[in-house]
Amino acid sequence: MKNIQTYVYSKRPYGDASRLNLDWNEADECVAINKNDIIDVLTNSDIHLYGEYIPAKLVKLTTEYYSVNREHFIPVPGSDYGIESILRILMQKGDRVYIESLGYKHFEVFARNLGADIKRLSLAEMFELKDEKAIIYLVNPNNPTGISQSVKRIERLIEGNQASIVIIDEAYIEFAQNTSSIVDLVEMYQNVLVLRTFSKAFGMAGIKFGYIFGSATPIEIIKSQINQKSIPSIVMALACRALENRKNVAEYVAEVTATKRYISERYKWNIESDANFFTMLIKDRTVLQQAEAHFNIGTRSLAETYGVHEASRVTLPGKKNRDRFIRFLDYIIQAKAVDGVFKYE
Ligand SMILES: Cc1ncc(COP(=O)(O)O)c(C=O)c1O
Repeated sequence: MKNIQTYVYSKRPYGDASRLNLDWNEADECVAINKNDIIDVLTNSDIHLYGEYIPAKLVKLTTEYYSVNREHFIPVPGSDYGIESILRILMQKGDRVYIESLGYKHFEVFARNLGADIKRLSLAEMFELKDEKAIIYLVNPNNPTGISQSVKRIERLIEGNQASIVIIDEAYIEFAQNTSSIVDLVEMYQNVLVLRTFSKAFGMAGIKFGYIFGSATPIEIIKSQINQKSIPSIVMALACRALENRKNVAEYVAEVTATKRYISERYKWNIESDANFFTMLIKDRTVLQQAEAHFNIGTRSLAETYGVHEASRVTLPGKKNRDRFIRFLDYIIQAKAVDGVFKYE
């Protein structure tokens, strides 16, 4: 058996509907579909059959929503599955894989398990890479920092490393105000893959649906290797509903942006995060934990996963939970559990 370094998974209590989970960057409610959509899909599904892998309806809706042709995407059961598939199919043991020193941990876990030669870089070092033959993974906006990179900068990375596969994980891109998606670059370059998910702005983390967008050749290779029965038909039908109701997503993003703006003004905080979360500077974790228990709210300590002890990441809610969130922030600021926004180096 391999010598595996265990990953400490952050825990959360389940089964308490009144708990406000602000620890995993999910939406605070289902955004893109409603109860009737769910009932309708469930009652009209042929559950005894595997679903069609890429139904024509999904092709039409995806092409419209993302403005990308059908040879440039495949649906996946969540971007985690997308990451794992890309690495499993395109990477060879010992290949160099560049990641940011602070970034989405599961990518690193998958890459390490598959025998990658992982190199952690600062952002500055990553953007200096030239003529590399490797896999380069960048999350934009980043998780956990929330910092985003311009399309121009990312395009230079792709252009300057054409022998590499450059993977851009855009799990939070819908929330970004300072940058935008690079999905359209997949038609211009041969070495780019983009991950998108319905787990964040669409408010559908429980169904695990997403996409790999990419240059035609790697997409064709991945499509030929993954098991085309891997997406539950119910998930596919719900994803199609979500794309039909896409205006709900824009409205939810506007709500989260308003929450971010409101707390920036209320506490005079400079929130640099371009995503639906930011990181607080923790002065007293015991008081924070007591407040979390009192308000029945969960935030995410960065101590275990990233070794950053004085930081907790917190997801920004929309309108539904904004007031409760503000009361919680007022309390932890007053109790001196938190002293503003954590500044990443
Ligand atoms: C950067 C990043 N990529 C991927 C994921 C996982 O997305 P999915 O639920 O689509 O697998 C997350 C979830 O937190 C994430 O933060």
